[in-house]
Amino acid sequence: MGDDFERMWADLAPIGRSATSGGYYRQPFLGAETELRAWFVEQAHARDLEVETDGVGNVVAWWNPVGVDGEAPGVLTGSHLDSVLDGGAYDGPLGVVSAFAALDLLRSRGVAPQRRIGVSVFAEEEGSRFGLACLGSRLASGALSWAAAQELRDRDGVFLTDALASVGLAGPAGPAGLAGTDAGSVLDLSGVGTFVELHVEQGRDLVERGAAIGVASGIWPHGRYRFDFAGEANHAGTTRMEDRADPMLTYAMTALAANKQARLSAARATFGRIEVAPNGTNAVPSRVTAWMDARCASDGELSDLVAAVTRQGTERAGRDGTSLAVTAESVSASVAFDAALAVAIAADHAAGDWPVIPTQAGHDAGILSAAGIPTAMLFVRNPTGISHSPAESATVPDCLVGVSALADTLERLAR
Ligand code: HGY
Ligand code: MN
Ligand code: MN
Repeated sequence: MGDDFERMWADLAPIGRSATSGGYYRQPFLGAETELRAWFVEQAHARDLEVETDGVGNVVAWWNPVGVDGEAPGVLTGSHLDSVLDGGAYDGPLGVVSAFAALDLLRSRGVAPQRRIGVSVFAEEEGSRFGLACLGSRLASGALSWAAAQELRDRDGVFLTDALASVGLAGPAGPAGLAGTDAGSVLDLSGVGTFVELHVEQGRDLVERGAAIGVASGIWPHGRYRFDFAGEANHAGTTRMEDRADPMLTYAMTALAANKQARLSAARATFGRIEVAPNGTNAVPSRVTAWMDARCASDGELSDLVAAVTRQGTERAGRDGTSLAVTAESVSASVAFDAALAVAIAADHAAGDWPVIPTQAGHDAGILSAAGIPTAMLFVRNPTGISHSPAESATVPDCLVGVSALADTLERLAR
């Protein structure tokens, strides 16, 4: 099993990797991510799996063992292959590679599942190009309409529809006959009875418990909010400080307020992305656009935190002679995974019950759970807890424990 896993892992290692930082740039519908999707299809065909590619970049490969009722709800596992900017190797791909390796392990054990088992890749889970987290799974589950998705543009103003067309994808019901398009549809999840996503832990809970595997209890609600600060462009030297309307100042005070608000309420708030216009060294800027990622233990606390930061930023804008407008660009409600499923999956293992733990990271599993599909997540220990960084890591032994944990889980669920 180890060779399988390590061979696939080695296949992916160079794809989309920056020579300078060692981080990954696997944004959807661009070179590296398209190469990854082709790799996935190749791996699926090598295993005689039945591949379904939809019109928005989601792919599922089904193992339909002889004699299994193709109409019975199937067991789906998998994750995503796209990354954040300068991301780590494990966030997403670990779940996909482990899924193929788990299928190989089941077959080597001679397991004859009573249900179809599928391996999925959902598109643009990170929302790092079009700004909306879990774009592919939201479209597949119906949580996002195609009409709304068509409005999405990337930082260069490229519409989602054009990005899809550039790689031969036609959207849910795109114009038939687009070159290379074999599917103008969106994945049909109605045949999925259970979804299990394996993912590297993005935190230190498992390493602090000394556990290699954990099971998710739920996902904190979280959102991405665009803060538009407008001021007055002016000369950096000749304009007296008291005569300025400087949006950079209002932004800076708002970022500090968000940090304080999160610390006070045991939540998370991060401004990790900013655009300044005209971005000159010797001019007071006219506009600052900054994005806040906020996460709290409950939906109410999340809206309270965003309201508090918006209020403090607006008050500061009043003092600075600037203005502030806040727009929610991506909001994911609180997710409580199927508790009975989580406990059943976590129980009765040689090394004792796996811990059932919450996460503050969003996942396609959260979208499928919210769509009513019984869903679980397995976490693999991350020695440092670091994620969304080239430093993200997991040890090979822990990854192999993850593969057999996933295989055991799939065997149980496909009985
Ligand atoms: O941002 C997240 O929570 C996830 O990694 N997509
Ligand atoms: Mn991520
Ligand atoms: Mn992920």
